Parts: sequence; structure tokens; C-alpha cells
Amino acid sequence: MSPLTRARHLLARAQRVAILTGAGISAESGIPTFRGPNGLWRDYRPEDLATPEAFARDPQLVWEWYMWRRALIAAAEPNAGHLALVAIEQRVTTCTLITQNVDGLHDRAGSTHIHKIHGDIWLTRCQECGYQRHDRTVVFTEVPLCPDCGARLRPGVVWFGEPLPRLVWEDAQRAVADCQVLLIAGTSAQVFPAAGLIGLASDAGAATVEINREDTFHSVGVTVSLRGLCGDLLPKLV
Ligand code: OAD
Repeated sequence: MSPLTRARHLLARAQRVAILTGAGISAESGIPTFRGPNGLWRDYRPEDLATPEAFARDPQLVWEWYMWRRALIAAAEPNAGHLALVAIEQRVTTCTLITQNVDGLHDRAGSTHIHKIHGDIWLTRCQECGYQRHDRTVVFTEVPLCPDCGARLRPGVVWFGEPLPRLVWEDAQRAVADCQVLLIAGTSAQVFPAAGLIGLASDAGAATVEINREDTFHSVGVTVSLRGLCGDLLPKLV
């Protein structure tokens, strides 16, 4: 039996599915990934742009980088991979989509149970008070300030060294511990705690199906590892 057929059988029998996605699923929409030959972390250093310390040091630079990424994402459309995940959600009893992506393309494709464990690039929130605003059109040319308390506003994403949003993360862990199949699509799964969801699923007895254009650290440990593009393989899986 081919790996694709095996994965299709596993998915066809499952009623409780969890899905973990990463930058690779949005690559075919034209959004750069982080690692690999054309990854963002080749040209930029995370410690200059994606940590609380970087923001404290140079908030203007950090905002410029996020405004550049917002513009790239605004020009992108969901692709066949995102759409295939919507189809999976419609076919099973429970489907929890856990994404490390901040681009909002799963929402735009039509997925509904989305857990954004690394936040949302379209969210702008206050560093100090509870103010936040979700807006896909606003353009900041200088560091925005909170209309409620005057502190700096920051992108509503999770930076290195920060905890994940607690309730979202707890829900994600629960869904993974309870699923029959965990689908892992387009992630190098090198960043923890997100990467730990794969072990959590296996320990709980779920089958794990990885889709990635190349081998990852998890390829040997998962139940089935499919080599190829999300936009090609996910529709074939469905
Ligand atoms: P990475 O850039 O680490 O990994 C992307 C993965 O997708 C790689 O394993 C690629 O081989 C694979 N890939 C690329 N294009 C693909 C395609 N079309 N089809 C299938 N696979 C493809 O991105 P993430 O794993 O999402 O966090 O990175 C995790 C986190 O690290 C991000 O959320 C971000 C980053 O630093 C923060 O900024 C906190």
C-alpha cells in the first residue's frame, strides 16, 4: 500500500481529527517560510525582530518588519492546501485546526475551529492594558500608541521567549490528546512547545500523518510521512 493510500485509510476511519499547520502550507500562496533556502530567518535574525527585547530596543524597526509582512500576506490568497483542510473539517465529527501561522489564511479559506497558537498578524494589542484591535487595513508608519492608556501598541503575535496564549494552548493540547489522527502539514516542527504536540498525539495512541516537501526530525517517528507539496497532497488525501 502506498503511503498516500495508507494515510487516506487512516483519515477515512477517523471521526476526531486534529491538524497542526506551519508556514509550509502558506508557501504556495507566496508567503515566505522561516527556515530553509528562502526562509525569513536566512536574511533576518529573530532576536532583532521577534522578541520582546527587540521591541523594547527598536519598536520602529519591529513594526516596519511586521508592516512589510502584513503587506505580503494581504496580497496572498488561500491555496488548495488550505481549502482541503476545510473539506476535512466538513467530513468528520470533530476537527481542531492548530496553526503556528499568523497569516489568517485558514480563516479566509473557511476553516472554523482554528487555534492560533502563535497569534494573529492582523491583531494589534496594547503592551500594558487589555486594548486590542483586529484590522486588515490599517497602516502604521510610526509606532502606534494605545488610545486607552497611551502605552505602545504591538503586533498580536507570540514572540520568542513568550508563553503561548494559555486557553488556546490548553484547548489545542486537549484536542490532540483526544484525536484519532493528527495531520501535520507544512511545518519543520522545530519550535516548542508546538512541536511537542506530535509526541503528545503518539503517546495518546493517535496515528500521525506528516505532509512536508522534505524530511523533518519527525519523519521517521510518525505513522505515515508523505513527501510533497501541501497544495498537491492535501487535496489528494481528501
Ligand atoms: P518553518 O519555516 O520552520 O518550516 C516550514 C516547513 O514547511 C519546512 O519543513 C518546509 O520543508 C515545509 N514546506 C515548505 N513549503 C512547503 C509546501 N509547499 N508543502 C509542504 N511543505 C512545505 O516554519 P514553521 O514550522 O511554521 O514562530 O515554523 C514554526 C515557527 O517558527 C513559526 O510559527 C515562527 C517561526 O520562527 C515564531 O515566530 C514564534
